[in-house]
Amino acid sequence: MHIIQSRHGLVAHLLSLRKQGENVTIGFVPTMGALHSGHASLIDESVRENTITVCSIFVNPTQFGDKSDLEKYPKPIEKDIEILIKHKCDILFLPEFEDVYSAEYVHQKFELGELESKIEGASRPGHFQGVCNVVSQLFEIVSPDCAYFGQKDYQQTAIIKSLIQLTRSDVTLKIVPITREPSGLAMSSRNIRLSDKGRKNAAFIYKALRDIQTDAESRSLLELVDRAKQFISSQKGVDLDYLLAVDAETLNEATSIKESGSIIILVALTYEGVRLIDNIFLN
Ligand code: PAF
Repeated sequence: MHIIQSRHGLVAHLLSLRKQGENVTIGFVPTMGALHSGHASLIDESVRENTITVCSIFVNPTQFGDKSDLEKYPKPIEKDIEILIKHKCDILFLPEFEDVYSAEYVHQKFELGELESKIEGASRPGHFQGVCNVVSQLFEIVSPDCAYFGQKDYQQTAIIKSLIQLTRSDVTLKIVPITREPSGLAMSSRNIRLSDKGRKNAAFIYKALRDIQTDAESRSLLELVDRAKQFISSQKGVDLDYLLAVDAETLNEATSIKESGSIIILVALTYEGVRLIDNIFLN
C-alpha cells in the first residue's frame, strides 16, 4: 500500500495510474480513521468493484461543533494501516490540514436546504456544511469513479447525494449496509470510548429498532415509535436525542407505513457520555 501525504503527490500518482489504461476505476473511501469492521466492509466493497482503492484518513476540524469531541477523537494510525493493508487498500491518503484546505481555500456554503438543519443537523449545527466542505475537497483531489459511505450515517449519505447533485459531480455514491458488533451495536469509532459493560449494554439500541421492525405490520407507527422511545429512555445513563420514523428519500417525518414509500427509523442518543447513532429500514 502506498501512503501519500501531499495533495499534489496523490493527484500526480492517480493521474499516472489512470494513464495506464482505460479500464482503471478508482474507488474512494473517505474516513476519519479509528477504523473498524464497518470501514473494512467499505474498503472490501471498493476493492471488489474497482481496480484502485483509495482510503483517506483525515479528522476534519470543520465538521466538529464540539471542540472537545474533536480533541477526544481517537487516532490509532498504526492499527489503521494494518487494517488497510489486510483489506488490500491500494493507497492511503494521509493529508495535513493544508493538503486538504489550501491557504486560499474559502469555506463554502452549500445550498442543502432543510436537510442540513433537521434531525442530526439540529443537534450538530454546521456539521453537514463541514462534511460537504471536506468531501468536496477530497472528491476534487481523488476524482473517484465511486465513493463509499456507510448507511449508519444515513443523513450524511442523503447530504452527499445532494452535494454530488449541487456540484454536478459524476461520482457514483455507494451506500454500504451497517456492520454490527455481535450484540447488535452498530460499529462506530466512538464505541471504544464506552466501558466494556456499556458496550455490551448498548445492544438496547438495536433491540429497540428491531422491535419496531418486528411489529411494523401489526401496530401503528406512532405507537411503535413511542414504545421504543420509552424503552430507550428507561435505560440507565441514556440521554435520548431523537428517535424518528422518516421517509427514506426526503427524511420528512412519516406517520404511517402505508402512506409512505420506504421508511427508515433514525435514532441518536448519548450513553456513557458517547454520542451513538443507528438506523433500520422498515420496508
Ligand atoms: O463519515 C465520516 O467519517 C466523515 O464524516 C467523512 C465522510 C470522512 C468526512 O470527514
